[in-house]
Parts: sequence; structure tokens; C-alpha cells
Amino acid sequence: MGNILITGASGFIGSFLVEKGLEMGFQVYAGIRSSSSRKYLQDPRICFVEFDFSTTEKVTETLESCRNNNISFQYIIHNAGLTKARKKEDFYRVNCQNTVHFIEALIQTGMVPEKFLFVSSLAAFGPGNPDSGLPVRLADEPKPIELYGKSKLEAERYITSLENFPWLIVRPTGVYGPKEKDYFVFFQTINRGMEPYIGFKKQILTFIYVRDLVRFIFIALSAPHTRKAYFVADGREYPSEIFAQITKKVLGRKTIRFTVPLPVVKTIATVGERLAGLWGRTPTLNTDKYNVLSSTNWRCETEPLQLDFGFTAEYDLERGVTETLAWYKKEGWL
Ligand SMILES: NC(=O)c1ccc[n+]([C@@H]2O[C@H](COP(=O)([O-])OP(=O)(O)OC[C@H]3O[C@@H](n4cnc5c(N)ncnc54)[C@H](OP(=O)(O)O)[C@@H]3O)[C@@H](O)[C@H]2O)c1
Repeated sequence: MGNILITGASGFIGSFLVEKGLEMGFQVYAGIRSSSSRKYLQDPRICFVEFDFSTTEKVTETLESCRNNNISFQYIIHNAGLTKARKKEDFYRVNCQNTVHFIEALIQTGMVPEKFLFVSSLAAFGPGNPDSGLPVRLADEPKPIELYGKSKLEAERYITSLENFPWLIVRPTGVYGPKEKDYFVFFQTINRGMEPYIGFKKQILTFIYVRDLVRFIFIALSAPHTRKAYFVADGREYPSEIFAQITKKVLGRKTIRFTVPLPVVKTIATVGERLAGLWGRTPTLNTDKYNVLSSTNWRCETEPLQLDFGFTAEYDLERGVTETLAWYKKEGWL
């Protein structure tokens, strides 16, 4: 097995990618920032490379110093990204501009890998049509509904415009699992006996358990397919209540169920966003998140995963959530 560079290695998905890379026998280079936590990167086999993606020159310097030490990368997973931002422009800067700087530096230094896998998001395409209920398909026109998705789409557009560049794009739907902090808030709320819903319309959601996502990414890396994009979900569709049902069952909790009407959520999101801006904080609920939470159809096409790679998810939501809750309990989060 060769060398693999995984950016955003310190984050939730990144730490699982690192673990999987090591398990598969790769020499793993964890791409981090000088400020990144190494809490989940304790395996002594991991090599670290500190990147500053803010300019092409800075990335070039880092890549040249790798090359001077006889280090090149067979595969690169560019997983670093911002899912929440304090300032709106941060999405574009981190998710799009940093990706451009990284690729420019790879090309300039002649260090283009055999495959460059970009972790995008279903958000780059936005939700499916609420009336038809049809899944979002690869051939559809992307219609992102928030800045995060727009910034991922911009990065995708740059990548796909490149000639002779061996890219592969994965667009996961909601990813959950141990160490994850956003769905965790919902698990915690249920654990405290409350079961909130947003709006009265029926929502259809899709998910992928983090271990299935990283397994798919490594299958896709070594497969011959290149210059293609894939949505990644576990192939099932879930009504919004299912998360709570499974969580209540596993935790043995009874809850008070209530629904917050959409206009109220929108007001909270707008006010919360302004206040968070004044206090320099990153709001959990903002107007972008409101758009996501109020969309009713998050189905996406997953057949190509089976057709091109023979991939089927091993975890359905019940199995994945059960494993996740066991981890939160073991670690004292719940
Ligand atoms: N979680 C999901 O449901 C989901 C769904 C679809 C796609 N994705 C994508 O998956 C990727 C990983 O997400 P995650 O959920 O694991 O998020 P996460 O836990 O917040 O991890 C994000 C990672 O990106 C790094 N990063 C952020 N800003 C950076 C910058 N300016 N320069 C260099 N590195 C930077 C972070 O480094 P620090 O530790 O130093 O902050 C961290 O390692 C992202 O690209 C995200 O868009 C996630």
C-alpha cells in the first residue's frame, strides 16, 4: 500500500478516514492545521503534515518540503471543510478557495496523485422536489439552498473544469456516528426527555453511518472510476420521527413531543444569527440551517454506488444509532 494524505484529519469524518487508512495498510499522512486537535489521532503510525491552505504559495511550500523528504502521495482525500461558519464568507474561503489553492499547488509542484477525492456534500445539490418527492439524481441541475452547499458546488465546478486531473467527488448526505457533535445535540435533547419537531409537514431524510462512508471512500479510491461524482447514503429513506424512535428505544427514555411551527423557527434563526454575529459566536441555528431543516425531501440517488462499486451500506439507521449511542455513553457524553 502507498502513501495517502487525508486533510481535515482532526475532524469527525477525518479521524475515521485515518483509522480506516491505517487498517488497510496505507502510510497515512494526516493533513491538519497547527491549531488542530490531535485527540483522535493518537496512533503512532500516523505522520502529520501541517497545511495552511490560505494561499497557493503556502501550500506549495509544504508540498515541496514533503518532496524534499521523498514523500509523495498516491491518493489524496480532501476532506477539510467548514459545515458551520461564524462569518458567511468563511464558507467560500474554506470550502472553495482553499480547494483551489490546494489543487493549484499540486499541479505546480507536479505532485498530482493517482486519485484526488473531494468530500463535497448532498447540500451542493440541495433537496429534491417537495411535490414530486423524487430523489435528487446525478443528472439533475444543482440547486443548493444555503451558503455551505453553494461553496461546495463552487469547489466542484472548479475541480470538474480541470483537464487531465484525476478527481472523484463524493457527496454524502447527513453523516452520523461516534464523535459527531451536531446530531449529538438531538440525542442529548431526547435523553433529557424532550422530542422537538420543526414544522408540520412530513419530512423524508437520508443518512449514512460514518463507518459505511469511509468504507465506501476507500473502495472508490482504489477502483478504476475517475472524473465522476456520487451521492452517498445508506440507500434507505427515513421519516423524521425515526431518529427519535430509535433513540428512545435504545436509551429507554419517555419524552414530551412538541412541534415548533416554521415561522417561529425562522424568527429564532434570524435573531440567533444576528446575536451570534455580535458576540463573535457560530450559531447552531441560523437562516441557512432553517432552509435545510424546513426542506421536506432529502432523498438522493444511490444506485450508482452499487452499480459502479458493488457497494451496499452495512448499517441501517437503527444499527448505526445504537452503536453511536453506546459510544456517547461510554465516553460520558450522555
Ligand atoms: N458531517 C456531515 O454530516 C457531512 C455531510 C456531508 C459532507 N460533509 C463534509 O465532510 C467533511 C468533514 O466534515 P466533518 O463533519 O468531519 O466536520 P468537522 O468535524 O468539523 O471536521 C472538519 C475538518 O476540516 C478542518 N478544517 C476546517 N477549516 C479548515 C481550514 N481553514 N483549513 C484547514 N482545515 C480546516 C478541521 O480542522 P480543525 O480541527 O483544525 O478545525 C477539521 O479537521 C467536510 O468537508 C464536510 O463538508 C460532512
